[in-house]
Amino acid sequence: MTFNTQLRIPGPTPLPERVVRSMSRPMIDHRGSEFAAILGEITAGAKRVFKTKHDLLLLTSSGTGGLESAVANLVSPGDEVVAALCGNFGERFAALAAAYGAEVVRLEFEWGQPVDADDLRILLERHPKAKVVLLTHNETSTGLTNPLRELARVARDADRIVVVDGVSSISSIEIETDAWGIDVAVSGSQKGWMSPPGLALVSVSERAWAQQANARSPRFYFDWKEAKTWAEKGMTPFTPAIQVAFAMQEGLHMLEEEGLTNVYERHARMARATQAGLQALGFHLFAQDGYRSNTVTSALPPPGLEVAALRQLLDTKYGVVIAGGQGKMTGKMVRVGHLGAIADGDVVQVIWAIEQALEELDIAPADGRGVAAVTASVQGVPATAR
Ligand SMILES: Cc1ncc(COP(=O)(O)O)c(C=O)c1O
Repeated sequence: MTFNTQLRIPGPTPLPERVVRSMSRPMIDHRGSEFAAILGEITAGAKRVFKTKHDLLLLTSSGTGGLESAVANLVSPGDEVVAALCGNFGERFAALAAAYGAEVVRLEFEWGQPVDADDLRILLERHPKAKVVLLTHNETSTGLTNPLRELARVARDADRIVVVDGVSSISSIEIETDAWGIDVAVSGSQKGWMSPPGLALVSVSERAWAQQANARSPRFYFDWKEAKTWAEKGMTPFTPAIQVAFAMQEGLHMLEEEGLTNVYERHARMARATQAGLQALGFHLFAQDGYRSNTVTSALPPPGLEVAALRQLLDTKYGVVIAGGQGKMTGKMVRVGHLGAIADGDVVQVIWAIEQALEELDIAPADGRGVAAVTASVQGVPATAR
């Protein structure tokens, strides 16, 4: 028997009780003053998290809709667009640009490796006409965080429009949208914002607006100009995901009560603890050291372990849901999400469950070493002292 499912995937993330309660209320008029106040509050709060003074638009869609809006508003068919990628979500961003008729110039790195800023500089020198650069902050498919500050600086120094997929990072991992020269950053409500899926957040700089005015892709639902015009009246152009807006309002209260610095530190601590626990259980961390994500940990299983069997046992017997690999890594890796409403005890629980499952699957005895490693990590004991 399992009770509450422990969602340890990299989004959607667990909903805190406060957030669940915030949604349990009657529907309101999306063209009335109550919604206008909520929209204003969410927009202002999200700007503080993005660290932007520019426009921030709320679109009703998942994160991909926010990314699509960036392409639809910035790219014209036939434009050269640089896509720097090192995993499945970078691939998807490139495919999205190609679907809008862009000539995509790929700067590609091995999965598990970060995008290199020097290589980006050289590529941009070779492609002076590529006005838009697509970057992925946190590559969720490989559990890797790219050196965004450096990459954005290189692209900005080359006078390009910097577009960042921050779907699984913003609100959990530090970003300074304006200070780092990012023109467009995109996130999604179901990640660190502790809300259900349904709202995309998109920041738009003045330079991005100038590019938008000249871009010629067809756009309607995701037309930024429409979103801005209506936002100024306290509305969205179309019916928004109102329930998700209730949730985001409460999620933002919680982020502000904790304080962003503490939120980032907590995510870093959860990541270190998850890494320590998985390593103690014989998993091999996939992403390059120094670039491992604070929101999702990817790891290759110990010899003999079938990822599908592990995930199924965790789900059915322990009520713990973890993710597998994506794309070419399907069936070959595990990904443990630790973003949003996650605390130390949640990491103990997932590592404990994996340890039990490994014994049941005849891979290794459950002698408590995974949980011990998590505890030592959380207490700040150096790995050598364990
Ligand atoms: C880095 C990244 N980009 C894009 C997406 C796609 O977002 P959505 O599934 O909300 O459309 C995700 C979702 O996990 C993601 O992690």
